[in-house]
Amino acid sequence: MVIELGPEGAKENYFFDNAFNNDEINSELPNLIQGMDKVFYPFGKKDGFDQLVINWMKTAGTKDRHSKAIDIADGSSLIGNLRLIKDSTEIQHMQTAADLASKAHMQAMIRTRPGLYEYHITAEFDTLFRKEDSEHSYPPIVAGGENACILHYNENNKLLNDGELLLIDAGCEILGYASDITRTFPINGKFSEPQKEIYEIVLKAQKSAIASKVGNNIMDPQITSEKIITKGLVELGILKGDVDDLHQQGAFKDFYMHKIGHWLGLDVHDPSEYKENKELIKLEPGMIFTVEPGIYIPDGSNCDERWWGIGIRIEDDILVTKTGPLNLTAKVPSDPKEIEALMA
Ligand code: GLY
Ligand code: MN
Ligand code: MN
Repeated sequence: MVIELGPEGAKENYFFDNAFNNDEINSELPNLIQGMDKVFYPFGKKDGFDQLVINWMKTAGTKDRHSKAIDIADGSSLIGNLRLIKDSTEIQHMQTAADLASKAHMQAMIRTRPGLYEYHITAEFDTLFRKEDSEHSYPPIVAGGENACILHYNENNKLLNDGELLLIDAGCEILGYASDITRTFPINGKFSEPQKEIYEIVLKAQKSAIASKVGNNIMDPQITSEKIITKGLVELGILKGDVDDLHQQGAFKDFYMHKIGHWLGLDVHDPSEYKENKELIKLEPGMIFTVEPGIYIPDGSNCDERWWGIGIRIEDDILVTKTGPLNLTAKVPSDPKEIEALMA
């Protein structure tokens, strides 16, 4: 969402020391750079802009022949870490974004039926988000059947078939703050037995991983989810062997090949670090991250055919509080019975 504040509005609302119009950039930047020790600038992010920065630095240098060299550094990780803990206003915006995306996911569950196309459901999200002056926080994934096994699928143009699942990964932005939700549900409103078997494992992994508390490190939910998924796949006979050994060997990666989640904020993948001084960051109140385990079994996988073509991910947005995790996106059902009841 674009918010036009103007230079005065930018100073007032965001507490910048100074703000100028874009057409003043060539005259103002060299003045501001002159005499500084360090310029923070992330090179290579915006086409054509790097050369402008070099020009401004050169101009700044020519203004004062005795000035010392100016260092240049990428400040992204410094700024990224400032974004790690959200204040109460930011949390409010993120809850609003979570609520709107939750409403859209529930509407999609109600409206999905065999014979529609993936783009019909995508359009439900487009419309609802635009009606609330919001927009997608990332390209949505609306993936019927085996398409759910393609992690970054976004063609969103195939037929929705009776008996298959639909995986939707979609979120929106409110005042710049993102939500990021995934739900997987049966296109005809009723889970089949094989679908339920896989779904229950992902749901258990997700719920256990959400139970992270202040003081846990960010990798704890990852390991929790890997262990539960490994155990579940062994119980179904999809993986064979000792659960701990298989976990150590990373055997689950054939079916669960991505990370449990990421920081969430102004960007859907917020750019804060995951380690500080080589140590994993510990969870503190005000941090928000996603918890999104999945199991993906494309056709031809090394297991019984009953599970072929099943791709399931469940994703919620979690705020760490002093008293435990708060699920900002809990309104969208993830329990299979609740999903079936809503779809009925
Ligand atoms: N939708 C992007 C992600 O889940 O990471
Ligand atoms: Mn995510
Ligand atoms: Mn997502």
